[in-house]
Formats: sequence, C-alpha cells, structure tokens
Amino acid sequence: MAEKNIPTHVSIIMDGNGRWAKLHGKERIYGHYEGTESVRACCEYAVERGIKYLSLFAFSTENWSRPDAEVSGLMDLMLRSLIDEFDTFQRNHIRLRVIGDKSGLSAKLIHCINDVESKTASNDQMTLIIMLNYSGKWDIVQAAQHYAADLKEGLTDISLDFNRFDGYLSTTGIPDPDLLIRTSGEQRISNYMLWQCAYTEFYFTDVLWPDFRKEQFAKALEAYACRDRRYGNVK
Ligand code: FPP
Repeated sequence: MAEKNIPTHVSIIMDGNGRWAKLHGKERIYGHYEGTESVRACCEYAVERGIKYLSLFAFSTENWSRPDAEVSGLMDLMLRSLIDEFDTFQRNHIRLRVIGDKSGLSAKLIHCINDVESKTASNDQMTLIIMLNYSGKWDIVQAAQHYAADLKEGLTDISLDFNRFDGYLSTTGIPDPDLLIRTSGEQRISNYMLWQCAYTEFYFTDVLWPDFRKEQFAKALEAYACRDRRYGNVK
C-alpha cells in the first residue's frame, strides 16, 4: 500500500562537500567523492519509500567559476558515477534523466548521458534527474527563447499562460518538486528551480551532504508529512 504524505517529487541541493572535506583534513574533491555515496544511498532510499522523482542539483551554471581542477574533477566524477551506478539504476528500476545546458559539457560526457538515458528509459520505479549545468534563470530564459522562436515560425500564438509556458521549461512533464531539501545549513535557493518551486515545501538541515544518508532523508520526509499545504487557498 502506498504510504501517506509521501512527496511525489523530492529535490535536493546537495551542499557542504567542501566543508566536509576540510573537516576531515582532505582536499575538496574528496568531499565530492563521499557525496556520491550519499547520492546512491538517497536514490535507494527514495525507491524504498515510493518517491517517483528525485532531482539533484549537481552542478550550477555558476559552478564553472570554481578552480579548474575542481571543475574537471567534478566532471570526471559525474562521468564515472554514471558508468559505475548503471547497475544501481537497473537493479532499482531507476530511469535517469539529465537536465541543464548540455552545450557546455564534453562530448564524452554527453555521449555517456545519452547512453544511460536511453538504456534506462523504460525503468518505471523512479526517475532520477541530475541537474547539470543548470540554473533557474537559464531555464526561464531558454523557455522564453523557444517560445519566441515558435511564435516567429507561426507554431504558436500570443495567448501564453502558466501551463503553456511550463511546456517550454527543461523540466516539462516532470511534476514540480513537493519537497526541496538543502543540506549544510545554508537557507537559500541559489538560482535553482525558480519557477518550479513556487509551492514547494523547503527543508533545511545543518548536516553536510556527505553525511546525509537514509536516516537524515527519513527525518526530512517526516517533517514534510506534517506540513499543511494550502497553495494560497484556505482550509
Ligand atoms: C556542493 O558542495 C556540491 C556540489 C557543487 C557538487 C555536488 C556533486 C556531487 C555530490 C558529486 C556527484 C553527483 C552526482 C549526481 C553523481 P560545495 O562544494 O559547494 O561545498 P561547500 O559549500 O562546503 O564548499
């Protein structure tokens, strides 16, 4: 039987990898390595709890300004994780989707993304969405550009409304997040899904991402289950 008050879509701003590494006397990249263990643990737990969509903010359009070694380390890690976790996806019937500005990614990474996306396309237990080279403002601007192009081509008309605009966003077809978790004590949205989080419940925790595992995820779900969502209405 489906659990009560389980969010359909949970999104996570995975934060605190660098601080975790510093705390353990290691280079920043070790925090990201350890963070991939949390990614696996959270994917498996999300499946166990019946969550249908899990989206993870893995790399923002602003993250390119980090030191070159960290950026290339993160891109290598992304590639390796997609290859290494393929069995995890298949075993748990997880469909992978990667959303963001792919034009900024290497050909090798794009090839790997396309390969894993197509091989997992029929998995129907949960969709894992990796937000890569993504930002909320980028998404809104690319949607506006596509709408303008369609208008110019005569493929659409001027009567734009929320639902039709939604159809131009990179997340179209995916329900808006019910719950957004941010780790590491920061309490801001950092140019993440700005449009999609209009009615999302936020959960902030001081736990650093590499320490965010099943128990912490369970606590966030517990907090969500007690929220009273009114969507601007009265009850
Ligand atoms: C934020 O911590 C974390 C990131 C920018 C990268 C997240 C990436 C991973 C967890 C690794 C791989 C992910 C997948 C989906 C395979 P930070 O570096 O900003 O930490 P800090 O604020 O403590 O410096």
